[in-house]
Amino acid sequence: MSTGRARKELVRVHIRWMIRRDMAEVLAAEAESFEFAWTEEDFLRCLRQRNCIGMVAEHQDKIVGFMIYELHKSRLHVLNFAVAPAARRQGVGGQMVTKLVGKLSSHRRSKITLAVRERNLDAQVFFRTQDFKATRVLRNYYGDSGEDAFLMEHRVGVPDAAEAEGGLVNRVAQYEEN
Ligand SMILES: CC(C)(COP(=O)(O)OP(=O)(O)OC[C@H]1O[C@@H](n2cnc3c(N)ncnc32)[C@H](O)[C@@H]1OP(=O)(O)O)[C@@H](O)C(=O)NCCC(=O)NCCS
Repeated sequence: MSTGRARKELVRVHIRWMIRRDMAEVLAAEAESFEFAWTEEDFLRCLRQRNCIGMVAEHQDKIVGFMIYELHKSRLHVLNFAVAPAARRQGVGGQMVTKLVGKLSSHRRSKITLAVRERNLDAQVFFRTQDFKATRVLRNYYGDSGEDAFLMEHRVGVPDAAEAEGGLVNRVAQYEEN
């Protein structure tokens, strides 16, 4: 018997390191995604840092998403993350998060952190579906708009559902040093 709910087609992506040649497509996706978009110089300044990594998600030779993150001693910090509007709601963002989560380990980098604008409800909902939770408010975080941010984090082996079901979560650990 049919459930009456069509199974959604996912866009399968290949996620690889970003290279200089990707920049035009990345900048286009960036401009379509953010009111205060990064410039090419912003990307390059960031990627020149030794601990900064850029990755792109490709589908049929087109870049449909990208992410920039920093490697810290005990965490990954995501600085930029977007899926091109035409490719959204097809599982691309979810596959990008899965790739990041695959880089975590319980004894080394055990969490992913990122800041989301207070007004960016879509991203907040998206990251909640990916087992991130908001742990802190960062007041006046953005120099451009003065907006607050929510710090969201995903911890290895701590699915959000466990908390929703009353599972034990060490709240003290949320404030421990990064
Ligand atoms: C947030 C973003 C990355 C999500 O990417 P995506 O590829 O569309 O995400 P997915 O298709 O993997 O979504 C997985 C689930 O997240 C939730 N979700 C994603 N986008 C959502 C939205 N706009 N509104 C509500 N829920 C959303 C849904 O539950 C979705 O599952 P469903 O489509 O089966 O309902 C994308 O919308 C984006 O690039 N936004 C602009 C840039 C941005 O805000 N980046 C984050 C900066 S911190």
